[in-house]
Order: sequence, then C-alpha cells, then structure tokens
Amino acid sequence: MSALRYQSGFNNQFSSEALPGALPIGQNSPQQVPYGLYAEQISGTAFTVPRAEARRTWLYRIRPSALHPRFARLERQITGGGLGPVNPNRLRWNPLEIPAEPTDFLDGLLALAATAEPQQASGVSLYLYCANRSMQRVFFNADGEWLIVPQQGRLRLATELGLLEVEPLEIAVIPRGIRFRVELLDAGARGYVCENHGAVLRLPDLGPIGSNGLANPRDFLAPVAHYEDVEAPVQLVQKFLGELWACELDHSPLDVVAWHGNHVPYKYDLRRFNVLGTVSFDHPDPSIFTVLTSPSTVPGQANVDFVIFPPRWMVAEHSFRPPWFHRNLMNEFMGLIQGVYDAKAEGFAPGGASLHNCMSAHGPDQATTAQAVAAELKPHKLENTMAFMFETGAVLRPTRYALDCPQLQSDYDACWAGLRKTFDQGRN
Ligand SMILES: [Fe+2]
Repeated sequence: MSALRYQSGFNNQFSSEALPGALPIGQNSPQQVPYGLYAEQISGTAFTVPRAEARRTWLYRIRPSALHPRFARLERQITGGGLGPVNPNRLRWNPLEIPAEPTDFLDGLLALAATAEPQQASGVSLYLYCANRSMQRVFFNADGEWLIVPQQGRLRLATELGLLEVEPLEIAVIPRGIRFRVELLDAGARGYVCENHGAVLRLPDLGPIGSNGLANPRDFLAPVAHYEDVEAPVQLVQKFLGELWACELDHSPLDVVAWHGNHVPYKYDLRRFNVLGTVSFDHPDPSIFTVLTSPSTVPGQANVDFVIFPPRWMVAEHSFRPPWFHRNLMNEFMGLIQGVYDAKAEGFAPGGASLHNCMSAHGPDQATTAQAVAAELKPHKLENTMAFMFETGAVLRPTRYALDCPQLQSDYDACWAGLRKTFDQGRN
C-alpha cells in the first residue's frame, strides 16, 4: 500500500486543507472563501438531532455540487431483481467468480438481501461486489451509508474528502451522499457491502468492559483533503430509492480543497480489533465481537451490528467451544474474508455468504460438533480466520437474484443432517 496520510479517531470534528490557508477560520461561510472556493455543507443527519448524533461537514470546493444538469435514470440498474418471495429457510451461497467482461464496482454490484424495499428510513440492504476495473465515473448514495468489506483485491477510494486505500481485512465506510470513485489496485476485487439506511454506524458502548477494548477509536482513519482540478467529461451516478440515475459533468466533482466536520469516510483495520472473550468457561454472546453498530428505536436492539470473528485464543475449560446451537430474534447474514469459520467444517468458503433469519435454528455442523465434543481442551489459537456478520433487527429478505443464482447451495440443510441422537438414558 502507498503511504497515504490519514487522520486518526472516530467521529471527531476533523479538518484538513490541501492548500495552506484554504480552510476558513472562525466561520463556516465567509463572504469570500480563500482561493475563490465555494463553501457548501453536507448534512448526514437532520439539523436538530442531539449534538452527539449530528453528522455534517463543511466543504470548500472549486465548484458547488449544485452545478449539474438533470439526472436521467440509467438503463443498467443494480443486479438483484427486487426482493424475492418470503423464505424462512437457512440459505448459503458459494463465492462469485470475478467476471471476464469489463466490470466496474457499480456494474459488479449484486443485491443479495434487504430488510425492506428501498423506500425505508431504517434497515439495511446487502450486496456482493465483483469487479475487474476501476470506475471512470463518480457515485454517491442518497439511500444510506456504505460499509465496504473487501474480501479479495485492494481498493482505492477517491472521495470528496480525500483518498482511502483498503485491503482485505480492512473495512471502509462511506457516508450517505459523499461522492466517490472506486479504483482497483489489483486485477480483481470482490467483497461485501452493507448499506445502512438507519442511524449512522457508531462504536458500541462498552458497559462493564470499561474504557478500552474491542475497536479502539484511534484506529479509525479518516482521509486528508485531496482535490482534482480536472475539466473533462465525467458521469456522476447516484442511487436514489434503489435506482441508479446519472448526469454528465464537465469537471471532476472530487474538487474539495479543504473541509471540516464529522460526516466523513473512514477505514479500519480489523486486525486491530482487541478481541475479548472468556477466560473461564462457556463463551459470551457474539455481541462481544461488535465493531460498529447502528442503533434502532428499541433500546439494545440494533438496526444492524457489524460483528467479526477474528483470530483468538480459545481457553474455555469444560466447554463446548464452537458457537453453540441457537435460535435468535435477530437475523444473521455472514460472510468470510479468509480462512475457515469455526462453526463450519466445509461449504462456507471465503467470499461466500449465509443467511439465518429470525428463529431459524442453526449452529455448528455435524463434523465440527463431533470434533468439539471429543477435543482435548488445551489452550488453542484460532489462526488465519476472519468471518463477519451483519446482524439486523428486521428480517432479511433475499432478492430474486439471490434465490435464482447458481451460487445458492441447494443442500445447505445437509450439513446438520448427520447430527444423530447421542442420548442414552443409562449414561450420565
Ligand atoms: Fe448464528
């Protein structure tokens, strides 16, 4: 990775200028902005939300965003086909192949599931992406913020507020409305996107854990100002209520020379997550692995939690160490960035996905269960693994594409089919 500069912290009031003195001091919108720039505010939350919730950034740019012609609906929309029929089954998908034909990040976006149709003020929409070339166009999403989880291939995110480079085992968050272009730093790129329509992602409260642990704020990195003063045709695409619309600009919209605020893109290295767990017996609920959370109106019930399962020591005594069998109110979409997930012996490959909706029974497969029951319980380190979960309060409905694609496994239930009765009334 190249040595980009970043600003450290989570939800700070960051500020940055690419030219000395470009950032006005003491007021947001002076009569004359340094260097002849235009001042513009982007708000990610309503003006009057509590201060701790508020997200907004002031931009000092070469041209105001308002300078654009009419948007027209694009013929090529995001692959997905809308939400499919309701389906309570446990579902699992094999990884997608990187396409052979030229495919940028938007072309390669596949809608897999969503909690509701796009006209929603909460919930999430989940996508896979699979691309083989950099975007030439610039995109913004009016429908929510994007949490991007690369699984293969490094990305360079050229945003209005500066540059972010992310590789597998890192994540990036692009706030609602921020314009950006996804460039590929490798031949192919594949991964997952969680589009959050609800309250913006934040760090979870730590309760009795105290003031340190899990994802530490200083490990989140925001960009520094970086602008393009380019006068050439560029297509500006937006997603608005689930549909792609575009207009043609005669200049790069990534022309912000200075900015300050907290409505900013950021990245985080999952390897920096301070993993906490049991040092006695059993293991805590997976909420102990929450990186970011979007709260809902129900206290303690997330709109969406982003949860990871990183390398860690397993030391629990006289315990069944894999994730136990369970049924949950919450809805669990899982992906795998690398290695093997400790609840599944096979069938869940890096780049694949699984969906276990409300009250669907699941847990370790037969092979994993048999091994765990028979294991000699020494301290053991799970290495070379990084699974994750988008856990939502509302049921996730697969799209028609997700239900029809060849990657959908027809025999997923079979991984539990070998769980034979071991009950013996005479054994204790
Ligand atoms: Fe689960």
